[in-house]
Amino acid sequence: MQLPKVGLRELTLGDVEDRFLWSLDREVTAYLNVPDKFPPFTKEETKLWIEACINRSNGYIQKAITTEDGNHIGWVDLKNIDEADKSAEIGIAIGDKRFWGKGYGSSALRAMLSVGFCEWELNKIWLRVDVDNEKAIRSYRLNGFQEEAIMYQDRWRNGVYVDRLRMVIERNDYELSESEA
Ligand SMILES: CC(C)(COP(=O)(O)OP(=O)(O)OC[C@H]1O[C@@H](n2cnc3c(N)ncnc32)[C@H](O)[C@@H]1OP(=O)(O)O)[C@@H](O)C(=O)NCCC(=O)NCCS
Repeated sequence: MQLPKVGLRELTLGDVEDRFLWSLDREVTAYLNVPDKFPPFTKEETKLWIEACINRSNGYIQKAITTEDGNHIGWVDLKNIDEADKSAEIGIAIGDKRFWGKGYGSSALRAMLSVGFCEWELNKIWLRVDVDNEKAIRSYRLNGFQEEAIMYQDRWRNGVYVDRLRMVIERNDYELSESEA
């Protein structure tokens, strides 16, 4: 399958409306780490979060995902950046469900891996994913991530603890997969 092209751009305050709408979609947030209340965020909280990302005051490198014709469809980020050991955690969501299952998530994931490994010269990029988020796990595997550990009862979600997988891609494996692509 030929993956669709995506762009990663800096966030702007114009993204607040989409982000707020996506936060109201329970299918989108089902596996995201959002507060156990509805709505998970107010519009004002969403704006403050976007501002913190733009100002880099929250430790996140968060970018907006766009389609080739400029549609804003989601976000992807690097966080928990460890400059000494050269690692970071990646997170992703396609907020506009019309773009699910078509390769946009994979394309954005790969674009962010390139930012992490090439611009930030990281050695390792890892993630946490709920064990029942099968769609996401499948996507991560397809794009070079490997299971590193299972973290039991790692997330409090809707009144129960759920296990999470820790998955990782190392620079060597990323470079190998890029040279084969
Ligand atoms: C998880 C999520 C980011 C995945 O993104 P997506 O765009 O829906 O999914 P993918 O990019 O994997 O696209 C799926 C299709 O592309 C294919 N694909 C993915 N990567 C590929 C690759 N490297 N080469 C070829 N094909 C690929 C898959 O096989 C799949 O096709 P199929 O259904 O015919 O098998 C998205 O569903 C989402 O945002 N979910 C809600 C939020 C969420 O759960 N985030 C993750 C939290 S850990």
